[in-house]
Amino acid sequence: MPDHGANDLDAFWMPFTPNRRFKAKPRLLSSAKDMHYQTPDGRQILDGTAGLWCVNAGHNRPKIVEAIQAQAAKMDFAPTFNMAHPLAFEFASRLAAITPAGLDRIFFTNSGSEAVDTALKIALAYHRARGKAGKTRLIGRERAYHGVGFGGISVGGIVGNRKQFGTLLTGVDHLPHTHLPRNAFSRGQPAHGADLADALERIVALHDASTIAAVIVEPVAGSTGVLPPPIGYLEKLRAICDRHDILLIFDEVITGFGRTGAAFAAERFGVTPDMICMAKGITNAAVPMGAVAASETLYQSMLEHAEAPIELAHGYTYSGHPLACAAGLATLSVYAEEDLFARAAAMEPYWRKAMHSLRDARHVVDIRDFGIIAGIELEPRPGQPTARAGEAFEAAFEAGLLIRVTGETIALSPPLILETGHVDQMVDTLRAVLKAVD
Ligand SMILES: Cc1ncc(COP(=O)(O)O)c(C=O)c1O
Repeated sequence: MPDHGANDLDAFWMPFTPNRRFKAKPRLLSSAKDMHYQTPDGRQILDGTAGLWCVNAGHNRPKIVEAIQAQAAKMDFAPTFNMAHPLAFEFASRLAAITPAGLDRIFFTNSGSEAVDTALKIALAYHRARGKAGKTRLIGRERAYHGVGFGGISVGGIVGNRKQFGTLLTGVDHLPHTHLPRNAFSRGQPAHGADLADALERIVALHDASTIAAVIVEPVAGSTGVLPPPIGYLEKLRAICDRHDILLIFDEVITGFGRTGAAFAAERFGVTPDMICMAKGITNAAVPMGAVAASETLYQSMLEHAEAPIELAHGYTYSGHPLACAAGLATLSVYAEEDLFARAAAMEPYWRKAMHSLRDARHVVDIRDFGIIAGIELEPRPGQPTARAGEAFEAAFEAGLLIRVTGETIALSPPLILETGHVDQMVDTLRAVLKAVD
């Protein structure tokens, strides 16, 4: 019989965590400020991952904290089904002002996973409303992470996240991933691989465009080891989608809100999709929220052609939750006042040089970077895949640095308020950790 005392670790079934291993040796965080977490025993941990790629403005920013506190005291909740509150409209308008031109219609969700499922559902509903109900296939990509909803894992490309859950959605196909060994140690976008987008033409040839609704990709894949798109790849995908009346969805849950040195990666790459999924940095992670920005054409077409009176039979109790909107509005103000997206762009060259200085560190077989993101890939320990990276994660935490590991890759994505001294500390800690780990 477990002891359900105040500090019992048993009851919380932790997500994406080896529960037995963690509970035998827990790592806890008790407070946070700017670039750092603090542990219950008072240790400072440099946040190399902005929490989970989400605290882009750094932790516990007073403006955001105060906005949440004030909104909680004023109105805790209001529905947005056939009813609404002013902050939801204000926040949608403010978001539309920073999304690429033409992507101005904002649908609120509570997470990235929900944003992905929402975008996929909008794609199906849109084609059906235009009399193209046969366009139902959804195309994802190998090594993609699109969250954990059934839509997201179906178009996603991580076998470990799919194999436990049956047959998933039907009618899904996948593009090949873009991780090519010949691109090892590329700085920024790799030179080779634009032609991998041609696989979409083959999928069209196999299934016919009249059956395909949408293609979804992360502009820079994050959770599968940081894979920036080869030069010209996203442009090609866009052109093929246009040729065949297929919607292009960018999952910018990680790449949104300054991570690539622009509001969205779409802007940075100069490629505009039909929908953008976002979450995480939307509220600086202070209150859960996600959203889909859809094109004006798509929205108007739904209003004109979908069955009346409710054009899209979709939504969440908490779509546009007042606390999330308050947090989001304050977050956008912090981003703007501190010009954080431009700051990230200005920091990128220093970041890139520092990350690539680890090329000669022990175990390193590839380094990839884009914006303020880096992936440092380690050689797997023979017979023990991912063990080395896992041990590096634990050793880095002991050494005062929070990193993230995915497969054999150390992924870094710190808050965008970082200074060069923080970058140096990350590099020095990682070099020492990699030297110590076998
Ligand atoms: C690209 C991408 N899409 C979707 C998600 C899922 O977001 P959430 O965990 O908020 O559901 C993530 C989370 O890391 C992500 O990286």
